[in-house]
Amino acid sequence: MAIRDVLKMGHPVLREVAAPVTRFDTVELHRLVLDMDDTMRSLDGAGLAAPQIGVGLRVVIFEVNANPRYPHVEAIPYTVLVNPVLTPAGDEMDDGWEGCLSVPGLRGLVPRYRQLRYQGRDARGNWIDRTVEGFHARVVQHEVDHLDGILYPQRVRDLRNFGFEDALVGQMTPMPD
Ligand code: NI
Repeated sequence: MAIRDVLKMGHPVLREVAAPVTRFDTVELHRLVLDMDDTMRSLDGAGLAAPQIGVGLRVVIFEVNANPRYPHVEAIPYTVLVNPVLTPAGDEMDDGWEGCLSVPGLRGLVPRYRQLRYQGRDARGNWIDRTVEGFHARVVQHEVDHLDGILYPQRVRDLRNFGFEDALVGQMTPMPD
């Protein structure tokens, strides 16, 4: 379909709460997902939320393939998640380094729930219900935050742990955007 421009931090759409999708399996929804796929893949991203391409709908996609650049990161199956609902499984949180295609070149240390359940639908309207942990759980929390107008720098607890990726080399565990 089309590679779209990714909005950068500061764009007002990235601060808005996105609206639920009400009709599934439509040409418009499939087209949106294809554009998100093309855009995410062109930038080698781990996930993308619709607001990042200027569409205020509750749609996220994510996928992590085994990548020699991130040997400690487990693969995550390609997922289209619409109208997601997250339920943390326990109170435990882990700190991890995150990046974001809307915040290029930067990385920050962000606490996320270690384990959570996510529910939602795919683009056809089929139900998704998974309980995940670790990096998979982190990616889902990062992407769903976008739907509520939250970018990861807002979750960095200590701004000393926020900086440019090239300056942080050796001080952080690299993670895909
Ligand atoms: Ni992001």
